[in-house]
Amino acid sequence: MMPGSPSAGPRAVTTNQEGIYKDLKSAVRKYMRTQYLRPIADHTREAFAQAVEFVCKFYGNAGRTWNEDHATHAPYDVILDSGCGTGESTLNIAKKFPGVPVIGIDKSAARLTKAGGTASSDADQLPPNAFLVRAELLDFWRLALEEVRTYRWHIPYHALYYPNPWPKQSEATRRFHLHPIFPTLLQLGDTIELRTNWEIYAQEFAEAARVLQEMTVSDCTPSSRVAKTITREAFEPEHAITAFERKYKNARQQLWRVVISKT
Ligand SMILES: C[S@@+](CC[C@H](N)C(=O)[O-])C[C@H]1O[C@@H](n2cnc3c(N)ncnc32)[C@H](O)[C@@H]1O
Repeated sequence: MMPGSPSAGPRAVTTNQEGIYKDLKSAVRKYMRTQYLRPIADHTREAFAQAVEFVCKFYGNAGRTWNEDHATHAPYDVILDSGCGTGESTLNIAKKFPGVPVIGIDKSAARLTKAGGTASSDADQLPPNAFLVRAELLDFWRLALEEVRTYRWHIPYHALYYPNPWPKQSEATRRFHLHPIFPTLLQLGDTIELRTNWEIYAQEFAEAARVLQEMTVSDCTPSSRVAKTITREAFEPEHAITAFERKYKNARQQLWRVVISKT
């Protein structure tokens, strides 16, 4: 290992897992065939309604029902930043795509409030196309999928930057790709980008997507649901765009990303 190379930094994640989770394939296959039915929490329904309203306002259609609008517009483009933490990535993505509303979602009020969340008076620091909501992703994603299926939303890009890795083997089923929500998540975005500082997480995420891809192709699922390409690579961001990315970059940890593309 070369001194000064990213991998010379401190060990990224402590785990008792040596490689990809051994039951990954069967777990993903099982979840593809079942539906995640946990009731959606009221607070996330409310947060989701705020996000829908924000998107409508952004496109200049506040107060109109979708049925009134339907005849006149194509689905609204919406970017999701899932598990946005302090919202720094939401802000950066929103600056990069000023013409598209970007919704940052996190369940932690403390994190959202830290850097200009909707709950704080700093909210006006966010660009006009950025909106932060406090919500449970497992619920928010199911509501978002309904918008996509009914052609109200179209999600060109979905950021999933540095999700909690749950690195102990006993916690594996808390990882998004080993959870019944995974098939829903993979339908949210023409491009989904996962970033992580744990190589095994990236390997598992890409492999879980591949297993779903294999199953959807053999089941003749509509092409909109099938990943065309899945790439996994080590990367070194020139500028950190999230709080955790900065922390890992400063600690010279190796970072990984998986990009799943349907177009
Ligand atoms: C490791 S932090 C990364 C935050 C941010 N993406 C960054 O890179 O700085 C993971 C974030 O995901 C959020 N999170 C984890 N599970 C969640 C869930 N089920 N619903 C909503 N937020 C969740 C946590 O509250 C936390 O802010």
